[in-house]
Amino acid sequence: MRIIRAKDYEDMSRKAAAVLAAQVTVKPDCVLGLATGSTPIGTYDCLAQWCKEGVLDFSRVSTVNLDEYRGLDHENDQSYYYFMNKNLFSRINIDPAHTHVPNGMEPDPEKESKRYEELIRSLGGIDIQLLGIGHDGHIGFNEPNSFFDKYTHCVDLTEMTIEANKRFFASADEVPRQAYTMGIGTIMHARKLLMIVSGEDKADIAAAAFCGEVKPEVPASIIQFHPDVTIIGDEAALSKIPE
Ligand code: F6R
Repeated sequence: MRIIRAKDYEDMSRKAAAVLAAQVTVKPDCVLGLATGSTPIGTYDCLAQWCKEGVLDFSRVSTVNLDEYRGLDHENDQSYYYFMNKNLFSRINIDPAHTHVPNGMEPDPEKESKRYEELIRSLGGIDIQLLGIGHDGHIGFNEPNSFFDKYTHCVDLTEMTIEANKRFFASADEVPRQAYTMGIGTIMHARKLLMIVSGEDKADIAAAAFCGEVKPEVPASIIQFHPDVTIIGDEAALSKIPE
């Protein structure tokens, strides 16, 4: 596990984008696993800028996203597909047909979960998975649990996650109560993991997840068992992790 200390959010974003850019440069037809939330926005800004400058070429890249709210379609401005399109896909030269997000409109959870797992397999697996971390230690929408959920599945969101995500909606009542998410097994099968974390409010969970006991009550702690994981955090987020 490599822990890279960045000065601040901008520095973290540039460093994370550089890791993803290296992947795209070394393997132009790679599969990028992507995340939503506020943490990766700066990373996506850098990638979009470098693509605009002609430094990066996404024409052969495929992407798979970690998760999607259940019941929201691509046009809904709160859907994760919409977020990805706005913050990254529409700003780079990627083929939209190569961008994949779980289908929140599929009513049959088993069918959608199976389809998404098969899709990832058919692409040859994920070369590098970008991750953020929730205040309760969730990755994707894998919430604290008594066991690690292995594959893509449908989850009930916890009150803490609904509370944290309501900032993107008109009110907490409008936050969907369920989501599709890659499982812990899906994430751990990625060849590389890139975790980004920013802000003092993440310092406690970062210390627990990256240095504490590995347990399903702190889902992100599982990444300690991955053979190739890079964590990039700003000073505030890593302040409770000794040098
Ligand atoms: C989003 C995702 C979530 C976020 C986490 C942190 O696709 O998978 O696990 O990474 O909720 O969100 P932010 O970055 O908004 O603090």
